Amino acid sequence: MSFLLKRILIFVIGFASIIISLLYFLNPNNKENDNIEITNIEIDEKLISQINLGKSLYVTHCASCHGDNLQGQPNWSTKKDKDGHNLSPPLNGTGHTWHHSQDQLFNIIRYGFKIYNENYDGKMQGNDKLNDDDIWSILAYMKSVWPESIQKKYDTISKH
Ligand code: HEC
Repeated sequence: MSFLLKRILIFVIGFASIIISLLYFLNPNNKENDNIEITNIEIDEKLISQINLGKSLYVTHCASCHGDNLQGQPNWSTKKDKDGHNLSPPLNGTGHTWHHSQDQLFNIIRYGFKIYNENYDGKMQGNDKLNDDDIWSILAYMKSVWPESIQKKYDTISKH
């Protein structure tokens, strides 16, 4: 190969690699973005499995009072049960559950209404069999059922 041909070849290869690297870095679909997408998918998957766990715990521990679809008991806001206690309110976003902060809801589920009124003798007792993760999962499930507008409002008011 002649000297001149070698130099042209080196020039062409050099030029081509600059163009290829430029295309790579200017491409919005490069590796860095792929990683961001994967991370988001991982977060979604984590949330979905948390919600699924919450749902099954809800069915076991809460549905007997609050209803299979978190709908509460009929006439919960106007009637009492046969013991004179409050009926179970809905947890599906149609009641006032979302007016409580995350921590208040956590405490109500963990300790029952006793935590806010030591003389409380109604039906919402604590759940000492549920660990912290269980309770956060139930809350994630409850929240996932709320209408989107309520979820958004909740995220702006709730300071934990
Ligand atoms: C034995 C029936 C019963 C069971 C079981 C029960 N609850 Fe309740 N819950 C109630 C009643 C009744 C109230 C309303 C409290 C009151 O006013 O006395 C309530 C209130 C609540 C509130 C407050 C809602 C609001 O809008 O202020 C939350 C949150 C809640 N329960 C979550 C749960 C979760 C989660 C479980 C399962 C881990 C559960 N409850 C199990 C009867 C029950």
